[in-house]
Amino acid sequence: MASSRRRSRPTSTGARGPLALPRRARPEPLTTPRLPLDRRSLESADFAIVDSLDPVVKAQQCFDDLLIPADHPGRLPSDTYYISRPGGKEESSAADTLLRTHTSAHQSTLMREGNEAFLCTGDVYRRDEIDASHFPVFHQMEGVKLFDPAVVGGAMTREEWLASEGCQLIAADLKKTLEGMCDELFGPVEKRWIDEYFPFTEPSFELEIFYNGDWMEVLGCGVIHSGVLENAGLQERHGWAFGLGLERLAMVLFAIPDIRLFWTDDKRFTKQFTAGQYDTFKPYSKYPPCKKDIAFWIPDGFEPNDFYELGRGVAGELVETVALIDEFTNPKKGKTSHCYRVTYRSMDRSLTDEEINALQNELRSKTESELGVELR
Ligand code: DAH
Repeated sequence: MASSRRRSRPTSTGARGPLALPRRARPEPLTTPRLPLDRRSLESADFAIVDSLDPVVKAQQCFDDLLIPADHPGRLPSDTYYISRPGGKEESSAADTLLRTHTSAHQSTLMREGNEAFLCTGDVYRRDEIDASHFPVFHQMEGVKLFDPAVVGGAMTREEWLASEGCQLIAADLKKTLEGMCDELFGPVEKRWIDEYFPFTEPSFELEIFYNGDWMEVLGCGVIHSGVLENAGLQERHGWAFGLGLERLAMVLFAIPDIRLFWTDDKRFTKQFTAGQYDTFKPYSKYPPCKKDIAFWIPDGFEPNDFYELGRGVAGELVETVALIDEFTNPKKGKTSHCYRVTYRSMDRSLTDEEINALQNELRSKTESELGVELR
């Protein structure tokens, strides 16, 4: 739910459920060699490890508990996989059931249950664009630490809290802890803190590191918002929280070029990694790609995420990228055309022309019938 996240407009095509996820989208535990990130480097004896919570949650947990307003773009059916939306597709309510979009969804419940410090890891789901770094399911780790009120202070107004020494102490502890974690993961690297905005932390920050010649965002974090603690019945408490995307980190650490590789059964990939060991990925020859273009006039309110999702539904993890390669408006007709290049490629085998043509034809006809576009 970072502010840098892609924002979408409301969709007129409705809430499609999570059915369009690739068949194998149920995650394996993170300790399998497929996600070769050694979690021990992030763990400390003081943190409870929570990693088997159900990814199906209420919007109350995923959004409302965290002060994410009903009209936040992340709550739209074009971004989030809803399982049920009793108020109808236009109405976002706390009672909606969905696949969690971030592990922050468990913060409030875990704190309410009395956990003082925890690392909560799990699969999270987002409808998004299709390229080498986006997949509709990925993993996050959430860290939370509450502090002793005798040290940082107890109940006070939000303004008092933000001006207090306790708040500064927590922010300093947060930064020190996360800088230490980064050094452990990447070696001593150059870091910088960016002021950020998250509805559920105040103040909020993003940590970036200088890695392979570029500044890279590693995580979002902050001092837990007084309102979040109040919602959880903990108005006397204060603490910090952070959220970390695991595939992104592993891709950088191990030079893994495509997020779909985490889901491959290809021995050439799986054999390269041993849990707890840092290895750099040695590329092997890829199976050939096949590119197909599809062009259409878009209807009013057309939402590209809906088209990407159709692509996921039709071809699952065989879609490598979907890129908008041409867009123009015909002034006479007053209509806009989009042309997308769909790249099909399997991580595990060669695809035949026949099957790709069948997939592309299915995509064409579903785009027409489900999204109401006019194919060109
Ligand atoms: N939930 C945020 C995301 O998915 C990441 C995050 C930011 C988690 C700040 C936090 C936090 O706990 O304090 O983008």
